[in-house]
Amino acid sequence: MENRVIIGGQWGDEGKGKVVDALSEGVDRVIRFQGGANAGHTIYIGQKKHVLHLIPSGILRPGVKCLLGGGMVIDPWSLRDEILSLEQQGVEVRDQLHISGTAQLLMPYHKRLDELKEERLKRKCIGTTGRGIGPAYLDKIQRTGIRMGDLLLPPENLERKCIEKILSANEMLSEFYQADPLPSRVLAEELVDLARFIAPMVVDPYRELRPVREGRETVLFEGAQGTLLDIDHGTYPFVTSSNSTIGGVLTGTGLPPRALGEINGIFKAYLTRVGNGPFPTELLGDEGENLREAGGEFGATTGRARRCGWFDLLAGRYAVDTNGISGVILTKLDVLDGFPTVKVATGYDLDGEALDTFPCLSGVLSRCRPVYREFPGWEKPTSACRDLQELPAAARKYLEFLEEQLGALIVGVSVGRERDQMIWTPTGVTT
Ligand code: IMP
Repeated sequence: MENRVIIGGQWGDEGKGKVVDALSEGVDRVIRFQGGANAGHTIYIGQKKHVLHLIPSGILRPGVKCLLGGGMVIDPWSLRDEILSLEQQGVEVRDQLHISGTAQLLMPYHKRLDELKEERLKRKCIGTTGRGIGPAYLDKIQRTGIRMGDLLLPPENLERKCIEKILSANEMLSEFYQADPLPSRVLAEELVDLARFIAPMVVDPYRELRPVREGRETVLFEGAQGTLLDIDHGTYPFVTSSNSTIGGVLTGTGLPPRALGEINGIFKAYLTRVGNGPFPTELLGDEGENLREAGGEFGATTGRARRCGWFDLLAGRYAVDTNGISGVILTKLDVLDGFPTVKVATGYDLDGEALDTFPCLSGVLSRCRPVYREFPGWEKPTSACRDLQELPAAARKYLEFLEEQLGALIVGVSVGRERDQMIWTPTGVTT
């Protein structure tokens, strides 16, 4: 079995949780390498719905070790709640979960600063998840953060460190934002308490990942968010604050490139986005509403209605090329079952000129108008199909077109939310 990376090919919410869950059978480890509780992976097993924000979906497979990698920003309050909630549902967590000591702590002041910054930006806001992601990465980059390894400090040292950070954040809160300060002593005591709970899971990542470097363990790397939300390669400034593309796997784990293995990009059969920023194929009005209703497109983390639109091939090819995706997994094909026509953007019109590559420079994408190719819909249910040949011919045509245009094989198609609602197509969909 080869190592494998799962990367979001769009603006997040591609259904990575389900794919990671399906592909984690038989691997030794699942590792998250970036982001924090802004992610929301929903997995259905039988009648049970599990929404995971920090913990890799692999936790639902007994015996699979899970690691929160050093590139993450981790809210210890949320982490404890997530662990306890899974344990209440009968999932064994603490023996299977490890946390890199080099990951950053996401503190209550990061969340407060995230909210206040967004409020201040008003109409120009990013539309963040409000989970404190940007301010936590800011602390990391300006070298003032607390790391998970600090939870191993003697309690009085941790308490002192925490109070110092809160007092400094309070200056920002009260002086810049005229907001109430946070109770430093109460929060520091809570953190010391949390440290007792979390510290046994904290590891030195270099030591912990030795079996992976030596090729003795197989890994599934679980990406969060998506290519177009990457801090460097996404639609800046309407992005998250981490590298959600392939480079993030290396910086977020400390593993060398040879550990990557197969690179799978997850794409929805259409496109969604939460938060603000350009989205050329967005459908407004009833059309968008229909797609949202059909796909149940409401955020797993914030419950916000997702913006919906047609598949964008320029953005798709950009994701394939940027990440070196060799196998595409297409999700939610069944959502398109009821549509009489299905469209795909094959190019952009930029102020009267034809554009055939996704533009990276800020401000350009918002001026692009999509040029569509229309496909007749299949108007038949696909959710019971388990084989390519069982799919309606029109659906197969749609898949073949996407495969050819993306320049990567479609190796899997998801036709429903259950674990087994998958069609595996390791040699692609073109017959
Ligand atoms: P932040 O990561 O909370 O700072 O949010 C920045 C942008 O990324 C906003 O547009 C969010 O809606 C978006 N975003 C962050 N995490 C996710 C995710 O897991 N799925 C989809 N969008 C996300």
